[in-house]
Amino acid sequence: MRTFRDFMESALYDPKRGFYPARTKTADFYTAPELHPAFGAVLADRLASLLERVRADRPGEGLTLVEAGGGDGTLAAQVVRRLRETGNSDGLRLILIERSRRDLTAAARTLTAFGVPVEALTSVERLPRVTGVIYSNELFDAMPAHLLRRRGERVLEAFVNGDGREVLGEPSSPQLAAAAAAVAPALADGQAHAVCLEAPRWLTLAAERLSAGFVLTADYGKRFGGRTPNPPRAYRRHRLEEDLLSDPGEKDLTVPADFETLMAAGARAGLETQSYQSLSRFLVEGGVESWLAAAAGDNAASFKERAQIKTLLHPEGMGEAFKVLIQRKLP
Ligand SMILES: C[S@@+](CC[C@H](N)C(=O)[O-])C[C@H]1O[C@@H](n2cnc3c(N)ncnc32)[C@H](O)[C@@H]1O
Repeated sequence: MRTFRDFMESALYDPKRGFYPARTKTADFYTAPELHPAFGAVLADRLASLLERVRADRPGEGLTLVEAGGGDGTLAAQVVRRLRETGNSDGLRLILIERSRRDLTAAARTLTAFGVPVEALTSVERLPRVTGVIYSNELFDAMPAHLLRRRGERVLEAFVNGDGREVLGEPSSPQLAAAAAAVAPALADGQAHAVCLEAPRWLTLAAERLSAGFVLTADYGKRFGGRTPNPPRAYRRHRLEEDLLSDPGEKDLTVPADFETLMAAGARAGLETQSYQSLSRFLVEGGVESWLAAAAGDNAASFKERAQIKTLLHPEGMGEAFKVLIQRKLP
């Protein structure tokens, strides 16, 4: 019997049977950069202004841009292209952290073809001390999480037995027992709640390696704070599925990011929250309208582009469900 977390880890990342090693881009879900390059361009402009602030605080120091969980480099390519076009890439060191070697190799190859030297790392533990900005899009919602479920009066942990069925038992660690107590008042009988211990741990490690600068996190989620139930989701071919345990590796399993936990872990590691806003607001403040205006043509291609940008912005698309958190490492 294993924890749901270990089941999720292997369903997502097992090299032979996992979802990510075999993922076909956009087949089961779209990420923002896969939808439209406006996301990467607006993000790049924001990264450039954050880097400028670091440069002002640390004159003469070499700056590094780190992308984490970037998959095959789609977003990194959009970001680097925009930084170049706007004259913001000179002297910048670029590091990619991606746990999938297949994707990391593809991303490094794409960026090298751009003429950009890249350092490719498979985990945050390998990140050297850097000054600059660490950013990610949909990193935390792709991390395996433990699962709690209410049964009657009690909140128990979900385990997966040899037949692939859920079995409830005592929480496997004091941290999960505390998480069960915190969510209990809000959890209805039978309801599930995911607890991702890896997300705050990852952020803490990243913060420890950042001498000065910012961490920018874009992700699906909200401020659950461990008190609001946060059930995991399964997606196959753009449809939400009820059953988390069937056909492991053939569907995406994901847990919305808990931004409150990220803010709290960041604060403990010296990261001060600078801003927390919806993706829609982040894009509007970053000038996404110019992309809509550029796609104003009266033809099928322009119509499709406008629809894609509107999906990024719309409350029923990604606009409200996704958030952008910016944290600053205090000197
Ligand atoms: C949902 S995909 C997002 C890909 C890309 N950022 C985008 O926006 O298209 C999540 C990615 O995070 C990677 N990932 C998950 N956990 C990771 C970790 N601890 N360190 C580095 N990469 C990780 C996965 O391998 C996967 O490529």
